[in-house]
Amino acid sequence: MVGRCLIAGNWKMHKTPEETGTFIGAFLPKLPDLLDVEVLLIPPYTSLESAGRRLAGSPVQLGAQDLFHEASGAYTGAISAPILAACGCRYVLVGHSERRHVFGDDDVGVRRKLGAALDGALLPILCVGETLPERRRGETEAVLTRQLSVALEGIDAGTMERIVVAYEPVWAIGTGETATPEQAQEAIAGIRIWISSRFSGSTAARVRILYGGSVKPENAAGLLARPDIDGALVGGASLDPSAFASIVDAGRRAAEER
Ligand code: PGA
Repeated sequence: MVGRCLIAGNWKMHKTPEETGTFIGAFLPKLPDLLDVEVLLIPPYTSLESAGRRLAGSPVQLGAQDLFHEASGAYTGAISAPILAACGCRYVLVGHSERRHVFGDDDVGVRRKLGAALDGALLPILCVGETLPERRRGETEAVLTRQLSVALEGIDAGTMERIVVAYEPVWAIGTGETATPEQAQEAIAGIRIWISSRFSGSTAARVRILYGGSVKPENAAGLLARPDIDGALVGGASLDPSAFASIVDAGRRAAEER
């Protein structure tokens, strides 16, 4: 684990503003001492404002699930980086597999969103990952390399350190099927080697790389103990305050043991 562990909860299309308030009221008192762990909540757009208000003064950060690459304009239904920043967001996901596979975001579109996030002073979490057929065909490394190299085209080493990468094998997202700690470590070590050759060894050592895909209280410790896994991007299990707090605690214990 490089630097501070990051545990992020991506709520996807779940929770109204009122339910968000209930979650935060139950979650904050369960949080362990957060010295070595950064915690991030990623609610739907419509809950960002109420989450931001309730998280003010707490150590928990706020993030958004997506953005559009323009800063403003006639783009019905879209949300920009400046709007997200004004709602208190510090992070934003780009290229989540559901955006890629349900909404058609392609690698070039992901690059535009990443650039817009950086221009808007947000920290992008770039999600990459292979599908099951791609893994079975032995294409995992090629897919990750393509997603990374297109999304990060034109990025310099200093900027790279502001980007978080999340390795999320598509076959493990929302399926209950987690990558084994060995599979996650192997793919993430490969991503770090790619960053090292594209930028430098010291950049690769500083970039945080998360694992995502059916992370739960029962498997978090095993994943977070792996040397290259710097945190977790959690979907389903982040909807429950106790389960998510227990994953945060696994991150805290893993960070302590480094
Ligand atoms: P999951 O989702 O934990 O429900 O598999 C992970 C994600 O999509 O980030």
